[in-house]
Amino acid sequence: MHDQETLVNELKTLLADATTLYYRAHSAHWNVVGPLFQQYHELFGEIYEDVWSSLDPIAENVRKLGGFPPSGLEELIKLREVRDGSDVTTAEGLAREVLNANVEVLHCLNEAFVCANECNSQGIANFLADRIDHHEKWSWQLSSSLGLSSPPLPESTNETPEQDANEKPKEISVQTKRRMRGAVTPGVR
Ligand SMILES: [Fe+2]
Repeated sequence: MHDQETLVNELKTLLADATTLYYRAHSAHWNVVGPLFQQYHELFGEIYEDVWSSLDPIAENVRKLGGFPPSGLEELIKLREVRDGSDVTTAEGLAREVLNANVEVLHCLNEAFVCANECNSQGIANFLADRIDHHEKWSWQLSSSLGLSSPPLPESTNETPEQDANEKPKEISVQTKRRMRGAVTPGVR
C-alpha cells in the first residue's frame, strides 16, 4: 500500500519527466528539418503545448498533498527519469526520441495513478487518467507517423529509464489497462 508521501514523490518525478518531455517536443518543433518539416513541426507543436498545460496542475496537486514542487532546475533535473535527446534533426529521429520520452512519461503516469488510487486520492487519480489518455494519443500519433502499426506504451514499472532513439518501446500490459479503466470511477472512493 502506498502512502501520501509516496504519491507526492511520484508526482514530483512526473513533473520532472513531463517538463523534460515538454522541452524535447518544443526543441523538436524548432530543430526539425527535411521534406516532412511542416507535418512534424505542427505535431511537435501540438505535443509541447499539451504537455506544457499539464505542468501547472501536476505541481498544484503536489501542493494539495502538502508537498513542494522543485523550486530550481537542478533539483528538477535530479528527479527526472526522461533524459535529454541527441542532436538529431531528422523528422523520424526526433519523432522516435519524443515518442520514447512520451513512453517514459506514460510509465511514470501509470505508477502515480496506481499510487493515487491506493491513497484514495480520487481527484488526482482522475487527473492522471486524463493525462494518460492525452499521452496515449501522442504515442499513437507519433508511432503512426513513423509507420508503426500499434502505439507503443510502457509495460511495467521495471524498465530502464533511458532508451535509445531507435529502440521500439514496449506494449502496455492488459492488466495495467484494466486497472486503469477499472479504477477511474467518478464518485467512488
Ligand atoms: Fe513555434
